Amino acid sequence: MIYTAGENRYGVMKYRRCGESGLKLPEISLGLWHNFGDRDVYETYRGTALSAFDAGITHFDLANNYGPPPGSAELAFGRILKNDLLPYRDEMIISTKAGYDMWPGPYGDWGSRKYLTASLDASLKRMGLEYVDIFYHHRPDPETPLEETMGALADIVRQGKALYAGISNYDAGQSAKAMAVLRSMGVPCLIHQAKYSMLNRWTEDGLLDLLEKEGAGCICFSPLAQGLLTGKYLGGSIPEGSRASRGGSLAAASITPELLKKLNALNDIAKAGGGTLSAMAIQWILRDSRNTSVLIGASSPAQLAENLSALARPPLSAGELDRIETVLRMP
Ligand SMILES: NC(=O)c1ccc[n+]([C@@H]2O[C@H](COP(=O)([O-])OP(=O)(O)OC[C@H]3O[C@@H](n4cnc5c(N)ncnc54)[C@H](OP(=O)(O)O)[C@@H]3O)[C@@H](O)[C@H]2O)c1
Repeated sequence: MIYTAGENRYGVMKYRRCGESGLKLPEISLGLWHNFGDRDVYETYRGTALSAFDAGITHFDLANNYGPPPGSAELAFGRILKNDLLPYRDEMIISTKAGYDMWPGPYGDWGSRKYLTASLDASLKRMGLEYVDIFYHHRPDPETPLEETMGALADIVRQGKALYAGISNYDAGQSAKAMAVLRSMGVPCLIHQAKYSMLNRWTEDGLLDLLEKEGAGCICFSPLAQGLLTGKYLGGSIPEGSRASRGGSLAAASITPELLKKLNALNDIAKAGGGTLSAMAIQWILRDSRNTSVLIGASSPAQLAENLSALARPPLSAGELDRIETVLRMP
């Protein structure tokens, strides 16, 4: 069926300015790390992507290696673009990245100019795009000079293959250096993509202060701790088909009795406020205006809808934030 975007798509979503740039991002963005690979079902993930756009999610985040297999999420997204979303390209912010192992030999990993340039060209081909909006270096490279990696990002922006440059998984010290190099090249760093959730708060220790000083935004990945901060694992069993059941990035063994106690205590706070744990986890991130966008994953339109319910709720009260803090400090 031919897709027509929902008429009310800008009615509910709020948009936050990304640092001091001219770009605004939706408070919730959709990532395609999981759920858009060859083992996933086209009609399901197409439904998720289109429901997201209909709800005002203008930002879709990819990387060269998302799948599995690597590259398949970009191919899948290219198919959705071609079939449905290309007429709306100017309403969309599409990002991709390079930095992890992508092809054999010395030029398919880390941070050389050779790798970043070739990888973005391949990503554009897979998605059928002429440019992406944001191109990230996916992780710091201890061997390549920062000037080379940041120089490649700056040149890619000058060539028009990406409109903005970003970095991901750089700690605060590495970020400060990378941002200074980018600035000296006339291409300020737009955004940092960092892991952040109620279960992982490392950005509070210096990174957010740096980004504020530098005028860069922050987009928070794995905000639901890959599904732990949802109703899914609260009973202690691992539902079939869930990320923890598939083996890989979320180890079933990490779901310990101590963690379950914490998750259930958080869920009690969410329930008392009349919402769900996933919505509360998203609202909790949005309490800090320096967090530009919450970058969720969703394996179905129903999960997406539950997560979007965060936007319809009143902000967390001081009492709720205190109760959450007490739980998060539990051993
Ligand atoms: N820069 C980086 O190094 C990096 C690293 C990781 C991720 N990212 C980006 O961040 C994005 C999001 O990461 P993430 O997928 O880990 O985010 P997440 O939002 O923490 O976890 C998403 C997963 O949780 C489960 N889930 C989500 N909503 C749910 C709900 N309402 N009820 C039950 N289960 C629910 C689903 O897994 P199941 O249904 O499969 O269990 C879903 O795939 C990625 O797609 C990627 O764009 C970036």
